[in-house]
Amino acid sequence: MTTVLVTGGAGFIGANFLHFLRRERPRWHLINFDLLTYAGNPENLADLAGDPHYTFIRGDVADWEAVTRVFSRHDIDLVVHFAAETHVDRSILDPAVFVRTNVVGTGHLLEAARRTWGPEARARGRRFLQISTDEVFGSLGSHDPPVRETAPYAPSSPYSASKAGADWLARAYGRTYGLPVLLTHCSNNYGPYQFPEKLIPFALCQALEGKPVPIYGTGGNIRDWIYVEDHCRGLLAVLEGGEPGESYNLGGEQEISNLELVRLLLAELVAQRPDLGPRDHLITFVPDRPGHDWRYALDLTKVRTTLGWQPQVSLKEGLRRTVAWYLSHPGWLERVRTGEYRHFLQRQYGGVAG
Ligand code: NAD
Ligand code: TYD
Repeated sequence: MTTVLVTGGAGFIGANFLHFLRRERPRWHLINFDLLTYAGNPENLADLAGDPHYTFIRGDVADWEAVTRVFSRHDIDLVVHFAAETHVDRSILDPAVFVRTNVVGTGHLLEAARRTWGPEARARGRRFLQISTDEVFGSLGSHDPPVRETAPYAPSSPYSASKAGADWLARAYGRTYGLPVLLTHCSNNYGPYQFPEKLIPFALCQALEGKPVPIYGTGGNIRDWIYVEDHCRGLLAVLEGGEPGESYNLGGEQEISNLELVRLLLAELVAQRPDLGPRDHLITFVPDRPGHDWRYALDLTKVRTTLGWQPQVSLKEGLRRTVAWYLSHPGWLERVRTGEYRHFLQRQYGGVAG
């Protein structure tokens, strides 16, 4: 039986990936190692509780003892490393925890894998998938071509710099020790279970409550959006079919400015909840994010030609599904909007949206 260690599985993409794996690889043993920070929610995985092939371990990737214990107690074949601090705005307010979790934590996992798996790792089919982001390539201008996997790193925020540090450690473990490391760079995900600090679920929450929807700067910044299920399919394709030592871009090929995206989202919300009435008047321009990257865009040629993967869900369809999911989970939104998160909202948005 294949045993896969998923770190950060109680977060947004990790939870979607565990659900996806349960459907697609029902015989695999899934181990979810997660610290349950403000961003991790065990309710995201409630339906896996009681599954004999699912193990949850609460632990910190930056805790060396905890990481080595997992490797000594379980015969791990595959690691899919999602666990991270992920919100750019938080990284600007409090960068230290990003260095700890993203850089030190990734270093611990790589070292534990190297020591446990030894030089036979590749021959025995072991694999370490480092989940990276398009943000490590830095900001593009409006007319720059989308970036390939070989583009130089140029991170701007403490978040993307810490992810870049983690990526370079992963690459170094591949080069120096022959650890079978693969990397994926993904663009902005959206869909079920996303914590409402990120643009789409945050705007939805605010609009549902009739509160301002803050748009940073002019709203002209461009992101490429991928529906999370497309990302999960791409990750499995890379995990099983990718070449150790290689990196793969996974994007949605759906670039749009933040302002246009929020307008589409609000239109979809009103289409599903006509009783709310028009919501566009809630859009409120606020001071820009410091160091705000203008645009991200990924070239998907490599993953398309080598693994035959491409995104399938259009932005319109993905937004329809996403709005429907949040509307049918109002209790979920309420429960995550508490404690430390409320404090963050107050620091970040003050009187505008908190
Ligand atoms: P998230 O913030 O929703 O979840 C992160 C998870 O990691 C949470 O469950 C949290 O409890 C856990 N975690 C945090 N610190 C930990 C620690 N020290 N030890 C163990 N667990 C810890 O994140 P997400 O949006 O699901 O992102 C997952 C991964 O995908 C990250 O590595 C992120 O950089 C990458 N990524 C995200 C996006 C995106 O749009 N969300 C895009 C590209 C890449
Ligand atoms: P976010 O979801 O934080 O993802 P990232 O910064 O990793 O791309 O933000 C997406 C874009 O939306 C980004 O350009 C910042 C912008 N943004 C707003 O304009 N208002 C908001 O309230 C938030 C959270 C983000």
